[in-house]
Amino acid sequence: VTKKLLVLPGDGIGPEVMREVAKVVSWMERTRGIRFEIEEDLVGGASLAVHGTPIRDEVIAKARAADAVLFGSVGDPRWAHVGFDRRPEVAILKLRSELELFANLRPAQVFEALADASTLKPEVVAGLDIMIVRETVGGIYFGEPRGIETLADGTRRGINTEVYTTPEIERVARVAFELARKRGNRVCSVEKCNVMESGLLWKEVVTDLHAREYPDVTLSHMLADNCAMQLVRNPRQFDVIVTGNLFGDLLSDLASMLTGSLGMLPSATLGPVAADGRRAALYEPIHGSAPDIAGTGQANPLAQILSFAMLLRYSLDRGDDADLIERAVADVLASGLRTPDIMSEGKARVGTATMGDAVVQALDRI
Ligand code: NAI
Ligand code: MG
Repeated sequence: VTKKLLVLPGDGIGPEVMREVAKVVSWMERTRGIRFEIEEDLVGGASLAVHGTPIRDEVIAKARAADAVLFGSVGDPRWAHVGFDRRPEVAILKLRSELELFANLRPAQVFEALADASTLKPEVVAGLDIMIVRETVGGIYFGEPRGIETLADGTRRGINTEVYTTPEIERVARVAFELARKRGNRVCSVEKCNVMESGLLWKEVVTDLHAREYPDVTLSHMLADNCAMQLVRNPRQFDVIVTGNLFGDLLSDLASMLTGSLGMLPSATLGPVAADGRRAALYEPIHGSAPDIAGTGQANPLAQILSFAMLLRYSLDRGDDADLIERAVADVLASGLRTPDIMSEGKARVGTATMGDAVVQALDRI
């Protein structure tokens, strides 16, 4: 079977790290009997320069038609001073809203060889493997009423409102329960039901859904402030964490630093399941376009390569192939290769292309 991928490298180091993914894609086609039909297009500053817009409607249509989207990064200082709707970053914001990508999956995984790169003690994080599922299209970033208003006495007030509906909570919780079944079978639901009505509803809806459809998964609940503390105290207690937009934003950034390197972290964002059973999904590294190192050949391609592994696992149901890639990455790191961003004792400092080649060689050896 042929799988349709839309590849959007974007700006800065995006195209550089995407070239390394292409090597892994060819390896998969050569040795694993999978065929990809790959379309590539421009987004971000690269699209602004040619088409005068950060993303064309045509590209959004292609994203809808694809089995999955592999996204690089957008952002370019040359376009930092234009109006907001003409900024490169609009490309990813528009894809997220147009495809209704409501569940952001952020794994925080510590490869054995990189336990010394964490901001925490190696013995606290060695072997860490958690998944944070963040709701991304609802909550306080979008709820009404919102705005800044001026009262009669001249006092101004800024307003944001956290709103969650039962279907919004259910669909993201369902993603978390399904994921847990393929991992450690545990979900921790995080809110602040002690002070927030939306948190109270969140907890109730997750509890009901669990009892109805996922009684085989172990469910626990935790207040968000405690969760932040527990992530630093003993992160390995968690398997899957599911939470709303605001808390997920903070907790996933916190968790990323447990692993010590931005250049290592992939992510997935999933949309609703369509009538034909297909699910919109976009895979991207959590890092940006890194304009400070673009063009130097020093970017770490592993986050982009691991994003492709997530794509295989979650959109194409090829978990075995994803495992292969993750094992190859672990082997390469164990062999001592390090791009300069990795804050870990390594034997050999290498650039983007050498790291990509090393992953392919490790795949050959597995
Ligand atoms: P950034 O993630 O691009 O860079 C932060 C720091 O980490 C820089 O020093 C960079 O050199 C380093 N870094 C990032 N990825 C790396 C990699 N793979 N290998 C080695 N070093 C790496 O974040 P920053 O600097 O805040 O943003 C730069 C641009 O990227 C901005 O225009 C921003 O809006 C955009 N951005 C886009 C994202 C997206 O496309 N989803 C996400 C985050 C930022
Ligand atoms: Mg991002």
